[in-house]
Amino acid sequence: MLKEIYEQPKAIRETIGSLIPETGAISIPGLENFSKEFLKSINKINIVACGTAMFAGLSARVMFEQICEIPTEVEIASEFRYKNPIINENTLCFFITQSGETADTIAALKIAKKKGAKTIAIANVVGSSITREADYTVYTHAGPEIAVASTKAYTCQITLFSIICMYFAQQIGKNLNIVDILKKDLLELPIKVEETLKLSQKVKKFANNIYKEKDVFFLGRGIDYASCQEASLKLKEISYIHSEAYAAGELKHGPISLIENGITVVSILTVPHLVEKMVSNIQEVVSRGAKTLIITNQDLADKNYDNIIKIPKISEFLSPVISIIPLQLFAYYISKEKGLDVDKPRNLAKSVTVE
Ligand code: G6P
Repeated sequence: MLKEIYEQPKAIRETIGSLIPETGAISIPGLENFSKEFLKSINKINIVACGTAMFAGLSARVMFEQICEIPTEVEIASEFRYKNPIINENTLCFFITQSGETADTIAALKIAKKKGAKTIAIANVVGSSITREADYTVYTHAGPEIAVASTKAYTCQITLFSIICMYFAQQIGKNLNIVDILKKDLLELPIKVEETLKLSQKVKKFANNIYKEKDVFFLGRGIDYASCQEASLKLKEISYIHSEAYAAGELKHGPISLIENGITVVSILTVPHLVEKMVSNIQEVVSRGAKTLIITNQDLADKNYDNIIKIPKISEFLSPVISIIPLQLFAYYISKEKGLDVDKPRNLAKSVTVE
């Protein structure tokens, strides 16, 4: 897992590949047949996946909604396949899967196809089963991912979605100013991931302080809430610590009753217009005695927090790729400190090919 965490700059670089030209329009091999007319006629995007791939979909949703202004739903494949989804020939369905072999995701794709929706597989393994079923396939280029807990496949999926999203936005003429910024930021993404990996010792120190805890909470808003859900999954998968991710605004609707002296709360803050709200949520848990770890690219210099991991600044749409890095390392160091088998956690399989 550690090796794969450190392979992320290269994996992201390879996923970006030559898709972003210095000048001119983005084009994506596999999607050349998408006409502007079809993209303009899309009534909804559905993103369907399991596990970490589904959490990558949550970040993709924010991009499709904010940049392309297309309503987007994210569904767990095992739910989608049994719910008679409301989709038609004007719905575009993405199926994200590292392995391309997850049984629920493949079954969900078959249902979408039967209902006439256009299906796109986002896969990492070339020629995997899902790529033979989908109308279109676009590949991430993460290279083989062996550790059960997914790391580089996840960041490559979000990277690829940012490119697909820019491509759609260009085709339908939406928010081209955001696309220009995103394009520039994307090219700096691998270097910023490299810089973030250098923060590992600070993460390790905090992880070694709390590795005996029974519960950890993650708080975030907007796209950071998506990252919190993935961070929470990483932690429970390999450290066996109970963890939950909450949209920070929900704190008052339940989880605050669980915050007591010494409890660990990890917060992610990368969305500029939500910083103030997050700071006040963090205040609420700190005043109840929580130990906090804050992952941020915002300036919180005037706040007196003990543990802040300052990550590089980037467009909020790409921040999930950066903010998850310290939290992948966090899960890794806790698992190591507990003497667990990081790469083969109990009861979990790399690829779930049966229901
Ligand atoms: C298993 C793995 C996860 C993975 C999920 C979906 O649960 O342990 O790491 O995210 O399957 O796998 P896929 O290959 O479809 O992305």
